[in-house]
Amino acid sequence: MDSLKPERLPVHLAVIMDGNGRWAEKRMLQRIVGHQKGVETVRVIVEECSRLGIRYLTLFAFSAENWLRPKTEVKALMALLKKFLRAEIKRMMLNGIRFNVIGNRSDLPPDIQNEIDLAIEKTAGNNGMLLTLALSYGGRQEIVCAAKSLAAEAAAGKLDPEQIDERMFGSSLHTAGMPDPDLLIRTSGEMRISNFLLWQLAYAELYFTEVNWPDFDRNELARAFRDYQSRERRFGMTSDQLRKEPS
Ligand code: FPP
Repeated sequence: MDSLKPERLPVHLAVIMDGNGRWAEKRMLQRIVGHQKGVETVRVIVEECSRLGIRYLTLFAFSAENWLRPKTEVKALMALLKKFLRAEIKRMMLNGIRFNVIGNRSDLPPDIQNEIDLAIEKTAGNNGMLLTLALSYGGRQEIVCAAKSLAAEAAAGKLDPEQIDERMFGSSLHTAGMPDPDLLIRTSGEMRISNFLLWQLAYAELYFTEVNWPDFDRNELARAFRDYQSRERRFGMTSDQLRKEPS
């Protein structure tokens, strides 16, 4: 931990929390036990990121495609989510964390939607880390939704299509107002983006680890941050140009 440079931590960290099922199956346990352990990891990582001064933490908790999982697993995940939201409000208030959700909130059961609204409302005045859960989220769906809303404005004569640029398009996404992630971590050895933050990850550094999400801990997070700090982020420029920057 000591070798981390606080001034070079990512401003926005995004995480694909993968491998709960495999963690459980390896131990001859039910998949849901893996998700339960996964929630414990969420707590640890949220608290550690907040302690380290990360400003934005975005976690992929349930994809738009996860609805296709067996009904019992979906139900169990929703129950865990509800329990998490109820239990975490207190801790979020203690740590000054602001809560947010991206994705198709209206797909979620009404009781979960209520818990989400409550958590967002209660934590709205906090000014620490912004914790965003991606729920029923899909990157392509988000892009289509943004395109539709801009097209509707153009059709209504309120917007000249020529005015549409990257900034405006980005402001039409669920992540409006947030900086793009600097670092994406995916656990469990899979090396895919899986429809997560497709637009926003354009220049993110990608970090993949074999560790399953339930086993991901503070040390693993520090390892990911150290790796991130060893990268050179060029944004399409040359190393030479970067050295000459901020002139
Ligand atoms: C991937 O494991 C994990 C998910 C489907 C989502 C992550 C969910 C949690 C960490 C628990 C709920 C979260 C909150 C915030 C309450 P997997 O089932 O795809 O694992 P596998 O690929 O090994 O099957």
